[in-house]
Amino acid sequence: MVTDDQVSKAINELLVPGVGRSLADLNLLKSIEIADNKVTVTVADAAIGPGTQEWIRTKIAAAVEKIADGIEITTEFVEAKPTEVNQVEKVVAIMSGKGGVGKSLITGLSAVALARQGKSVGILDADITGPSIPKMFGMKTRPIGSQSGILPIISHLGIEVMSINLMLENEYDAVIWRGPVISGAIKQFWEEVLWGKLDYLFVDLPPGTADAPLTVMQTLPVNSVIIVSTPQDLASMVVRKAVSMAQKIGKPILGVVENMSYLEIPETGKRMELFGKSRGQEVADAASAPLLAQLPIDPKLAALCDAGEVEKYSTPEFDAFSKELNKVLNHTD
Ligand SMILES: Nc1ncnc2c1ncn2[C@@H]1O[C@H](COP(=O)(O)OP(=O)(O)OP(=O)(O)O)[C@@H](O)[C@H]1O
Ligand SMILES: [Mg+2]
Repeated sequence: MVTDDQVSKAINELLVPGVGRSLADLNLLKSIEIADNKVTVTVADAAIGPGTQEWIRTKIAAAVEKIADGIEITTEFVEAKPTEVNQVEKVVAIMSGKGGVGKSLITGLSAVALARQGKSVGILDADITGPSIPKMFGMKTRPIGSQSGILPIISHLGIEVMSINLMLENEYDAVIWRGPVISGAIKQFWEEVLWGKLDYLFVDLPPGTADAPLTVMQTLPVNSVIIVSTPQDLASMVVRKAVSMAQKIGKPILGVVENMSYLEIPETGKRMELFGKSRGQEVADAASAPLLAQLPIDPKLAALCDAGEVEKYSTPEFDAFSKELNKVLNHTD
């Protein structure tokens, strides 16, 4: 007689098409019952359309058959919504007051850092009018789903991503929507995407302190915020506004990342402070939070982002940031 463990191990080797994670990782595996030479597997159907259900049924039958020849195998699907199965441990929003300081990049790098440490990670791209996450990860596939929800797209490292860009016919199409529609889309990304079990979901916010960031703060269970700034005078001034917004809404600030802190001249190794003297510590002090990193302007990084290969990035500065990020995230556990 096969055991529960053997059956669940066999089932968990199957990766759900479209998202490439197991039923257990997606939190869809409800139960396995073994009795009288019969195995009954119950699976939640959140975001799983009829075609994928059939695939799962066939694959489960084949996988169990292999370890228990001649046993009768039934797979039953029960109705569920993504909100009923999603189990996201921590939601971290990346914000800044100003545009173009590297929020999306820091969101991507934070996800890469934790995925490399073996955590299950997702990115919700809440920048509806200027989405940039899919390009950074080289994603072009359209998500699939069902009446009840939609499956995220998965990166090489296994990071789940949902972005409006993945849904558009052409990635260059402009999204011209008004505030309430944008807020609705962000809410849907949280409620109707099958994120499954995640250690961390990073939310890439659009610039500013207007509608969309407020929607995210109010409709998603954001646990903490990472603030991104650059050394520019104006940037750090507007960043202080973001700090004050996070404080007003009562979200703890996990840390501050100063991006584009300096440029290292390859020939001499000399550091040029292109945007002026570093103000990272000042901003961190204003936020009463640690300074997580001072990342340089790195042409290699920009090139990797353009090529959709951000996951290949590796430098000592990035490694140091990964360690700091892991430290502060564990502190708040
Ligand atoms: N440290 C860096 N080194 C090199 N290029 C960088 C760095 N940080 C950001 N960039 C590049 O600068 C551009 C802007 O970065 P990014 O899109 O992350 O900013 P953002 O704050 O999300 O902008 P927006 O406010 O428009 O959403 C991107 O092309 C990115 O690749
Ligand atoms: Mg951005």
